[in-house]
This record gives sequence, structure tokens and C-alpha cells, in this order.
Amino acid sequence: MLPTIAREGDAVVMIDQRRLPAQELYVRCKTAPEVARAIKTMVIRGAPAIGVAAAFGLALGMRRSAATGTQRFAAEFQKHCDLMASTRPTAVNLFWAIERMKRSLAAGVQAGESVDQIKDRLDREADRIHDEDVAGCRAMGAFGAEVVPADARILTHCNAGALATAGYGTALGVIRGAVEQGKRVAVFADETRPFLQGARLTAWELVRDGIETTVITDNMSGALMRQKKVDLVVVGADRIAANGDTANKIGTYGVAVLAREHKIPFYVAAPLSTIDLKTRDGDHIPIEERNAREVTHIGGSQMAPAGALVWNPAFDVTPHEYIAGIITERGIFRAPYVDSLKSAFEEPAPVAK
Ligand code: MRU
Repeated sequence: MLPTIAREGDAVVMIDQRRLPAQELYVRCKTAPEVARAIKTMVIRGAPAIGVAAAFGLALGMRRSAATGTQRFAAEFQKHCDLMASTRPTAVNLFWAIERMKRSLAAGVQAGESVDQIKDRLDREADRIHDEDVAGCRAMGAFGAEVVPADARILTHCNAGALATAGYGTALGVIRGAVEQGKRVAVFADETRPFLQGARLTAWELVRDGIETTVITDNMSGALMRQKKVDLVVVGADRIAANGDTANKIGTYGVAVLAREHKIPFYVAAPLSTIDLKTRDGDHIPIEERNAREVTHIGGSQMAPAGALVWNPAFDVTPHEYIAGIITERGIFRAPYVDSLKSAFEEPAPVAK
């Protein structure tokens, strides 16, 4: 499996996703601010992977802390949390992971543990967040495979693969799950301008796995659907509001509208850590706007003239009406999402549909 991110001694190591597929280089982060910078600059990206990176970064930062008393230690931890939280606003997994790490620290303080014991506890919690993500993706893959026809042509947007998670992937996890169940799957990967996650990362992952992959530019999916060459669309998510409205990579909304027009089922695959019941609907999801240079330039070459204005939202929102189902590690949830998504968090796990 692809090594997206790992804790290695006194460092957090991640594959540099800005350089793939041309170069397979690894970045070693030795401090929490270095991890925060790696998230911001998209060395690592994809909602679940961002959450894991933040957790590893916090554990790393606190491992290196010289604080001897828990009060100072907790104050330092809060600073690192604030820094992590400032990196990317849309992927809710980031805030979810920070909250988990905060709860872990609070439990240690409450139990009267020493600073060293709390450091160990934070390491363990970060490892758990990592491992649960891989397990969740695998479960999602098995559930999602049920909606994949025996001989399927699947369109996906952006990269919701092993690189976007701790491993295996969400949307690509569904594809991998279907292949593991013996289904024949051919994938169309939208190139995903401006950062080209589809052309660079999704295609790279799938080709490595021996899964047939055709890269298309973002403006080709309509023609492809009209020619009846797509059976199913599966994408990931950065944040799913309580009513099912889903923020994902810019361009996802257009794909969903086209899929509806051509009567092609459109599925979202995401772990429960991406579902944000505190956000009522898509209008309340913060959308990150990124640097104009991502739009004006491709691979260092300028495409648009200096002086042209640029709009570069990194994500859009697909209204829940367009979504046939939300595939999670606890099964597939369907409309009405206000009820079904709430039930996803109930104990014991609801029976998958
Ligand atoms: O800007 P990115 O590359 O972090 O955006 C990633 C996406 O939009 C993914 O589809 C989403 O995070 C799901 S990843 C399993």
C-alpha cells in the first residue's frame, strides 16, 4: 500500500504530492510548524490525510516540548492546535483530528499524568487516528462495492485515494473494493484543474494498481456521459453538512449536475470524520480560496496574462438532492440525509443499506 504519511522516530514523513508523478520524493517534518506548512502548501492534501497529518504534527510538536509542568505543556499544545487549524478551512477532518487530540490531552491532565505520560498518550492517539482511517477506508470500500455493477465504468473527480487518506482511499477505496470483489472496473479520472489531482495523483495510483484508467480534462465529462460511457460517479468529500450537502474539490458540483441530467448515480464516499452535523447545510461550509498563481500557471508556465483577475475557490458544494448515497465505514446512507446521517453516529452501528 502507498506510504502517504508515517511517524518515523523524531519526524513525520510524507510523500510530496506536489511532485508526483514525476518524482517520488519524501518530506521529513521535524516540528509541528513544518507539518502545518506541509498541509498548507499541499505536500499532503485530501481531507482524511490532512487530519492524520495534523494529529501526527501535534504529537510530534509535543514530543519535542521542553515544558516540565502540565500547565505550560497544555498552553504550548493549544498554540500548535491553533496553527494547525489555520492551515486549510474546508476539510472538517482537520478540526475533527485536532479535537480528538485535545480530548486526549485533557484526559491525561485530568488523570494527573506526567508530561512524559501525556506525550506517550498523544502519540498513541495520533496512531489510532491513522489506523482507524485505513480501517475505515477498507470498510467503506467493501460497502461501496455493492453499488458498483459487475462491469463498471466509473468517473471520479480529484483524488480521493490512498494519497488523500492514511491509505486505500475513499472513492478509490470503493473502486479498489469492487476490484477485490472480482468486478471489472474501468476508471475515468477528471484531470481536476487547477492542481491536477486527478491527472497526477488518481491516475498514478490506479495505474500502479493495474486498474484501467483514462484521464480526461474537466470539460470532457459531459460529452462522455452523453455517449453513455459512464455507469457511476464516485467522489470523495471535504465536509458533509447535516443535510447531506457536500463540499468537495471544485468541479464536483458540475459533475453531479451532469450525472443527474444523464441519469447516472452520483455517490459520495467519506468517513464519519468528514460528516459535520454542526454545520446545517452547504451554505455554511467555509470554502477555501487559494493563490491566483494556481490558475494562471501550469507547472511553472504562465497561461493567463498578467493583469487578469482570478477566482480560485478550492471547493464547491453539491446539494444533497444530487447525491444517490453517502458511502461510509458504517454503510451507505441515503436521503433524507438529515435523519440518516444523524443515525450514522448512533451506537451500536446502524445496519448498512
Ligand atoms: O485540495 P485537496 O487536494 O485537499 O482536495 C481534496 C479533495 O477535494 C478530495 O476529494 C477530498 O478531500 C476527499 S479525499 C478522500
